[in-house]
This record gives sequence, C-alpha cells and structure tokens, in this order.
Amino acid sequence: MQTIVSGIRSTGLIHLGNYFGAIRNFIKLQHEQNCFFFIADYHSLTTHPKPEHLAENVKEVLATYVACGVNPEKCTLYVQSDLPQIPELYLILNMISYVGELERCTTYKDKAGKQQSNINAGLLTYPVLMAADIIIHKATKVPVGKDQEQHLEMARNFVKRFNHLYGIEYFPEPHPFNFNQKLVKVPGLDGTGKMGKSEGAANAIFLKEDPETIRKKVMRAVTDSGPTEPNQTKPEIIENLFSIMRLVSSDEVIKHYEESYSNCTIRYGDMKKQLAEDIILFTSPIREKILEISSDNAMLQRIAKTGAEKARESASKTIKEVREIIGIKSLV
Ligand code: ADP
Ligand code: TRP
Repeated sequence: MQTIVSGIRSTGLIHLGNYFGAIRNFIKLQHEQNCFFFIADYHSLTTHPKPEHLAENVKEVLATYVACGVNPEKCTLYVQSDLPQIPELYLILNMISYVGELERCTTYKDKAGKQQSNINAGLLTYPVLMAADIIIHKATKVPVGKDQEQHLEMARNFVKRFNHLYGIEYFPEPHPFNFNQKLVKVPGLDGTGKMGKSEGAANAIFLKEDPETIRKKVMRAVTDSGPTEPNQTKPEIIENLFSIMRLVSSDEVIKHYEESYSNCTIRYGDMKKQLAEDIILFTSPIREKILEISSDNAMLQRIAKTGAEKARESASKTIKEVREIIGIKSLV
C-alpha cells in the first residue's frame, strides 16, 4: 500500500479546477491507499487573510471535501495547523533549502509579481512548507493539478538532499499523481490560462455556485467568430471550452460539438448553453451537500478532531525519527 498526501489551501470556495485536478483523485484513492488529505490553512497566510475569513474558509473546504465524497472513515482528513509536527519539519527543511532555488520557483515569481507590497518570506518558502506536508507522512504519491508539478520537483530535491546529507535513505521521493496518467489543467473561462480563485471571479466556476450564476459565467466565456475551414485546429479559447466539456458532458454531447466544429456548423451559443447545463447537473448535488454539511458544526468538529489525532500519530513518528537523524537529542 502506498502513502498518499494532498491538500488544498483555505483561500475561498472550491472550483472545478480543484475538483478535477485534486479532489476527484482523492475520492478514488481513499479506497485503495493509505491517504492523508488536509486543508492547507498555514499556506493561505501568505496572502494575509482576515482571521474570520481564514476560519470560515477552513470549514468551507472541509465541508466541500466531505460533500464531494471524501470519506473521513476511509482516509485521514485534517487541518494542517492541527499538526505542530509540520511547522517543525518545515523549519528543519528550511536549513537544507537554498534561497536561489526558491527564488527561481515560477509560482514564487508569479505571486511576487502579483503582490509586490507583500513579498513575504512565507511566499518564498511556500514549497518548503508544502514538502513538509508531504514527507511528514513519508508519502510517495501526491494527487495535484499540473500547476503543482514544480513544487513536487522541489520536494524531491529536498528529500534527495536530506537523505544524502545524513547518509540515510529515510524519506521516499514524492511524485505528482493523476488517475488518468496526465496531470490535469482545467482552463479558466476568460481564455487566459488555468481556472483559479485568484484569477478573477468570472474565470472560475465554484462547486457551490447557484445555477443562474453558472449560466451567466459560461455564457460570458470568450469565443471567436467560429471555424471557417473544415477540420481546423481550435484556437486556445475554444479548446478551453471543449476541455471543460470533456470533463462534465456525455460522450454524445462532446462528439456532437466536435463534429459541428469540424464541419463549421457549430453555434457557440448552443454549445455554451449545453455546457452550462452539464456543469449544473454535475455541481448541483455537491452544492446541496455543501449547504447541508456547512451548517453542521458538530460534525465538522468531530471530523477534524478524529483526523488530527490520526494524522498526529503518523507525523510524530516521523518527527521523532528526523530529530534522531539530524542529531537533536534533547537532554531533558
Ligand atoms: P487555486 O489554484 O484555485 O488557488 P489551490 O492552489 O489551493 O487552488 O489548489 C488546490 C489543488 O487544486 C491543487 O492540487 C491544484 O493543483 C489544483 N488545481 C487548482 N487549479 C487547478 C486547475 N485549473 N486545473 C487543475 N488543477 C487545479
Ligand atoms: N500548494 C498546493 C496548491 O496551491 C496546496 C498544498 C499545500 C499541497 N501543501 C500541499 C498540495 C501538499 C499537495 C500536497 O495547490
């Protein structure tokens, strides 16, 4: 059995990108492997959320996990800040990570560009904390979207460096994972790159969104003036719509629109209407469950408590061994 770790930051609502990049894999993996799924609340501090928002978002993500089918009886489901062993390992890993490699990380450069008045050290060491999250349970597989590939590569570098420095094959190398072999990148609706919470609200479809908002967002998605020659290659903005359709629509629907694109009879208005309805069909049951679960504070607390206890067991074993390996031997 393999050990799996993954998390989502508690920065707001969960969108289709999070679902297809990460959560969909969690639901499958929990039945087969030793899974640890968590809410990365420390990571969200890199953008300085208000305390009440942070607390709400943690609950929101937990409720969404459960609503999507992540089963706290099949996996270990917890909140990152409930494990003091994670920041301890993060501190230790900081001593073997180089400022140069952290500065070269593309997500750091991206974020630093976007929040120039707040380029905090937490942003720079974000991949170190993420590596700590993963290796605290000695995970080998990490279900994430394509945007996390470089972070995983950095985690492997820290692992290799640690093992080499201390002359022991202690941590296994963690690899990104998706069920369909290829890592997923769900595009946004505005024609620019990936779907994300920080890319503007019109770009992402949230699982909790009501049908009317979904219809409006999809209908406003950018398109072009349509294909003019048979079997033309699709420009990126159109390919993006098809990519989302391939995730939520039936094979017949996809085939129909692929063919109508190829023979130039496609009407984007119809395609978007269909896409919106298929997204709604997909998200509605999840949305209902989120609404139901979010109000059950007692249940959320119970889940977080049980998860924290299970996760701490595994994390404290690792920290104890790591302390031994690096020579921290308390005299008291
Ligand atoms: P966001 O990118 O919206 O801020 P997170 O960074 O917390 O969300 O991402 C949580 C998980 O969702 C990660 O595994 C990430 O790879 C995945 N993810 C986020 N956006 C996408 C996307 N557009 N396509 C595929 N996976 C995604
Ligand atoms: N960095 C991830 C993201 O932004 C979230 C995350 C934090 C994570 N720690 C992790 C994902 C550990 C997988 C494993 O999407």
